[in-house]
Amino acid sequence: MPLRGTERGWGALVRAFHWLIAVLILAQGIIGLTMVQMGLTPAKVRVFALHKSIGMTILALVLLRIAWRPPERRPLDPPDTPRWQRRAARAAHLALYLLILAIPLSGWWFNSAANAPLVWFGWFDLPSLTGGLDPVWKPRALLLHQTLFWILVALLVVHVGAALWHHFRQHDDVLLRMVVGPRKKSGGA
Ligand code: HEM
Ligand code: HEM
Repeated sequence: MPLRGTERGWGALVRAFHWLIAVLILAQGIIGLTMVQMGLTPAKVRVFALHKSIGMTILALVLLRIAWRPPERRPLDPPDTPRWQRRAARAAHLALYLLILAIPLSGWWFNSAANAPLVWFGWFDLPSLTGGLDPVWKPRALLLHQTLFWILVALLVVHVGAALWHHFRQHDDVLLRMVVGPRKKSGGA
């Protein structure tokens, strides 16, 4: 299984990053929306701690994923893809990257401005970004965290819709090359 991609599909590392980050973000969105509705119990404190730990893990994975971007080869777009579609896909992917970086950063910022603890899965403390309570930036950071999350949800609807459109309407291998990676040339393609 090639670690790096080829012009016919994404490599194993990119696919592992893509699906691991996707699953963690899905879980993180559900945990985030659930935990803010909970009554003030010890369970709430534990779920908040879990949310923060998963969020910081996502941030680390996204940074690793970006570091792996230069050595990775991008698969070729299906032939006859209109220029506007290539551009739209590039812009959407860039926006996804920016969002999955900015969301955990804004969470970290809010947590720091609230002077709340940040301990990675109970193992070690992570530093504060503000050096203590910051009542002015605290509500702004929270609003940013929430707003960026909903922008991500909207963009993901488009992203997933585009992937399914390629698979079921265009019958090309854009989705498969992110699922199983580079495939052998088949007769017609
Ligand atoms: C990709 C990563 C993340 C996603 C998708 C995410 C998503 C969310 C969502 C959907 C909420 C609920 C917002 C609401 O309706 O009020 C939330 C709340 C929260 N998030 Fe995150 N989050 C992420 C990372 C982080 C990180 C890294 C931290 C801190 C280190 C963090 C700290 C918090 C806190 C403290 C709240 C509760 C805010 C409140 O008290 O109302 N999040 N997050
Ligand atoms: C939180 C969820 C997700 C995020 C943050 C995300 C993000 C991304 C990013 C940034 C890329 C561009 C890869 C690059 O250029 O390096 C990408 C590619 C891709 N994603 Fe997602 N994705 C998510 C979920 C999904 C889901 C659920 C599907 C399928 C139903 C999907 C299908 C694809 C496909 C097929 C590609 C490859 C497009 C191509 O080859 O041009 N993604 N994704």
